[in-house]
Formats: sequence, structure tokens, C-alpha cells
Amino acid sequence: MRISSRELREKWLCYYESKGHKNIGSVSLIGDGETGVMFNVAGMQPLMPYLLGEKEHEMGKRLCNIQGCIRTVDIDNVGDESHFTFFEMMGNWSLGDYFKREKVAYSIELLTKVFGLEKEKICSTVFAGKGKIPRDNETEKLLLENGIKKENIYFTDENWWNLEGLDNTPCGPDNEWFYPKNEDKCCETCDINCSCGRYVEIGNDVYMEYKQLSGGMLEELSQKNVDTGFGFERMLTFLNGISDPYRTDLFEKAIERIEKECNVKYGKDEGTTRQIRIICDHVRTAVMLIGDEKGIVPSNVGAGYILRRLMRRAIRYIMNFGAGPSLMKGLAEDFVDIYGEVYPNLNEKKAHILSEIDREFSKFEKTLVQGNKEFEKLISNMKKFAPDVKVISGSKAFKLFDTFGFPVELTLEMAKENGFDVDLEGFNAAFKEHQEKSKISAGTFKGGLIDSSEENAKLHTATHLLLAALNKVLGGGIVQKGSNITPERLRFDFNYPEKLTQEQLKEIEDEVNKNISNDIPVVCENMTLDQARNSGATGVFGDKYGEDVSVYTIGDVSREICGGPHAKSTGQLGKFKIIKEESSSAGVRRIKAILEKSQN
Ligand code: ALA
Repeated sequence: MRISSRELREKWLCYYESKGHKNIGSVSLIGDGETGVMFNVAGMQPLMPYLLGEKEHEMGKRLCNIQGCIRTVDIDNVGDESHFTFFEMMGNWSLGDYFKREKVAYSIELLTKVFGLEKEKICSTVFAGKGKIPRDNETEKLLLENGIKKENIYFTDENWWNLEGLDNTPCGPDNEWFYPKNEDKCCETCDINCSCGRYVEIGNDVYMEYKQLSGGMLEELSQKNVDTGFGFERMLTFLNGISDPYRTDLFEKAIERIEKECNVKYGKDEGTTRQIRIICDHVRTAVMLIGDEKGIVPSNVGAGYILRRLMRRAIRYIMNFGAGPSLMKGLAEDFVDIYGEVYPNLNEKKAHILSEIDREFSKFEKTLVQGNKEFEKLISNMKKFAPDVKVISGSKAFKLFDTFGFPVELTLEMAKENGFDVDLEGFNAAFKEHQEKSKISAGTFKGGLIDSSEENAKLHTATHLLLAALNKVLGGGIVQKGSNITPERLRFDFNYPEKLTQEQLKEIEDEVNKNISNDIPVVCENMTLDQARNSGATGVFGDKYGEDVSVYTIGDVSREICGGPHAKSTGQLGKFKIIKEESSSAGVRRIKAILEKSQN
């Protein structure tokens, strides 16, 4: 190994610190919910308000870091040498401070003096101009002044960096850096335009001086910024003179473990190599997401669903190799070891990460065997009875999702392996239909709410205790999908992929009854929605609330935004009893429960 991942981190940060940049560290991978972006997809994303000149950064105008990013759009390409669902971006910024002159000089000094690249071989692409934005002659001039050969400078109108489709975000022309991988030319005309892959793009400097508005309009920013991004894994691979990032120290331990425990060999054949890479990539991302400061757990909605999808895909490959949860946990520990120093959260949350892996593994393992059988039966029936049909219907795919917890992407992947396709439109329609059904039942909720008799108040409080108990017993991530109260019973819909066991139901009942017998006061406070959120209150009605909301707190058991009414204390409730547990719609379970008066 010519350079370790730790050395590369140090070199990047030390260089920019020596030029007056402050290391701002990596922020959470999970989006802030405000912008609607689920994950952090680029190193510059957390710096958006500062690049736009809306805020001043408390650490100054020169910043650097190595930022973790999540990109799942290319998940199907993971398994090759260049796509990851988690990756890190080495970045540095000038927020309206220095501009092209300093940046060109810094990048060339870093590449040559710190990383030992030869100046004569460095190639660079420069923005050729497009529409009203002029050709970047200044950068060309600076490159030449700093010793880059004229024949190694290329102009292209593709050098424009932006966050596609996101209005009111900073953007601008960029200057990209390339370097040849080895000495031998692959052909006479080999240059950066050759498709042989000899020239690697190692990073880019974006000159962010515009804001993109809706409809593709641009507006000049009040300040000229620099936004640099060098992919950490790519640079590490390149500096080690190899082309496979999985051969770097980031994955060394994990791959050794898989080889040893599964008796397979990395690099032996394409299929095995791809599967090992997918396992490594997905487990690494799962570790990062669960161990993140705003950590998430697998679920059927939003970011939790992406995590579940990654974990279930990894589990499937792990099981294909004949291994089980201990391998997955071992791999997670390897990644905590290698990244713990940089992301201390991972060390702190290690036990939690391992238990989430265990939980998801056992949940999926049970249904995977059965689901696989179902899938194979489906394929063999189709081959037998409808040999011309090569598309699995939407309703069949939906059944695999609803009954066996198969993310539809997994069904699609398995279908492809068998030469089939899936009717995704049909799947979406089936999904919607079930959602509609559950909406209709949620509609009747209103009737229950209006009736504020004492019984209703008690059932309402019981509903809050039930949600808290579900989260405790089922491991978090459970939210309300619908609720209905009649004078006799409560009905509660929530996200969960499979039927609850008798043991789980008993545990849930016991938990609610324990909180009832502790006779905890139910406290109502009025506050603004923001205050409520900041106080850790949960609520599922989103924007439907006005500015002022009521928050009902039941000791440290539950804190929910809610319209009420509620019992004064839990001791008034009586005995909580679940009378039915059933499926409500795709990934949604329904519990009906009553309060018996017999407790005292
Ligand atoms: N924002 C630029 C990138 O992500 C630097 O490549």
C-alpha cells in the first residue's frame, strides 16, 4: 500500500489547513427534512446557505472537510469499480474569499507537491462557454502560468456543475482534473477523450458564481465562491496505482472475512466479485446510516425504506453465500473499526448497529425462504403455462411485497436474473389501491375524534400508549398510519412489514398495562409547531396543524402532538387488551384494542 486511507485524509486536511482553511468536519448523512432532500448527496450540500451568501459561516470564509455522502440512484451499478451508495468527498471552499487565481495554484501544488503527480502529465478541462455564460479563458491562462501544458488543456461545454432539478441552488462552470493511469498509450490518439479509461478524473473545482432559478434561469450571486470536490475512494485507489477501490484498506478486512467465512475468492470470477462488492458496499452504508448522529432504522417509509432495501439486498447475497447474521455483524464491526476514528458516533452506537442488523436479518430471513419458494413457483408456472410472457404482473410483485416484505426492487432484480421483467406500473397501481383503502378507513377517524366522552378520552390516551409500546417492542420507526375510535374500541394502523407474533402482541399489551398501572399524569401544553418539534414531540399530521399545537406528554413514555381529548392520568384507563391484529394495506398492520374496566 503506497498510501493508507488515514494518510490521505491527513494530507488533504493538512494541506488546506496550511492555507488558512478550517476543517468543519462531516455533518449528518440524513437530510434536514426542510429541503426535502432525504440524504446528503454532495459535499457542498450542507454549505448551500453560505455559498448563496444568505449566512456567514461561523468558522470563516475558508473551509475544508471530508464529507460523507449517500447516493442511491445508481444502486444497480454497485458492484463495479466506480459506484458506491456511501462515499466520501474531500472538499474545500472559498466563501466569497479567494477565486480562480489561488484555486488553480492550490490544486496544482497539492497534486504535485503533496501527491507527487508529474505536472507535465496533468490534464485539465475548462468550460467552453454556453448561452450567455462566457468561455473560461481566465482559468486557461492560470493553468498555463502554473505550468500545465497547453496540449493538456481541453475546452468543453459540459463543464458545468449544478444540483440538477433543484431551484435556488448555487452552480457554475468547473475545472476538472485528469491524470493518466499508466505509461503505455492504448492507441495513437489516446488523450482524455479516449474511451479506454486510461485517464482518470480525479476531482474538480467549481467556480460557483450563479444561482439557478426555476425554468433554467441563472442569477449572478453576490459573492464568487470556490467549491472543490475530490472523491475520497477514487483518489485513494488512484494514488495506490490500482483501479479497484475494494482493494484499498477501506475494504481489506471485510473482504478477507467474507473470503474466509464463505469460502469464496475475491477476484476469481466476475459474479462472485460483484456479489462480494455489493455486500461490502451495502453493509458499509447501513453501518453509516444506523450509526449516524441522526441515525435511522430500517422501516417501510422514506429513508428507513432505502436502508431496509440495502440491508435486505445484502442479506440475500450473504445467504446465497451460505452465511448468516454473524457474518453481517462481523462486517459491520470491521467498518466500525476502520471508520470509528473519523466518525466517533459509530463507536458509540456499535451495539445498536449490531442489534439492528440482527433484527432486520431475522425479520427478513424468515420470509425470504418462503418468499423465494413463492417466487420460484411463480417463475416455473409462468414458464410452464405462459412461456411467451416474460413480465411478472404488478399484482404478483405486490403480493411479494405485502406478504413477504420483498422490496419491489428485489423482485425486479430476481426477475432479471431469471430473464424476466416486472410490471412496475402495475405494482404502483396495486400499491396505490391499497393506500386508498387505508385512507378511506382513516377518513372515519373524524367521527371518533369529535365524540369527546370520557370513554373516548381514555381510548385516545391508550392509543398514545400503544404507539409507544409498538416502538419499544418492534424496535422503533413505527408511525401512525390511521386511527379510529368508537365508544367501544380503538383501531390503530401503523407501518410494519409482517404479522406480529403472539409473543409480540403479549409484550405490547404488557407494556401498555405497565404504564397504566404506573398511573402517569397526562400533561397538555400549548406551543408553536416548531417548539413542539424541538421538544421531541411526534405527530403524523404534518402541515395540517396550525401554528399553535397541543402536545400531550405521558411521563417519559410518550410525547405527541395531538388534538386530544385525553384522560387525566393513565390509571383511569382500565385494562388494555388487543382483540385483533391484521393486515390493513401494503406494509401497514392494524390493531384493534379495548379497555376493560376490571383492573382495580
Ligand atoms: N460540488 C462538486 C462535486 O460534488 C465539487 O463534485
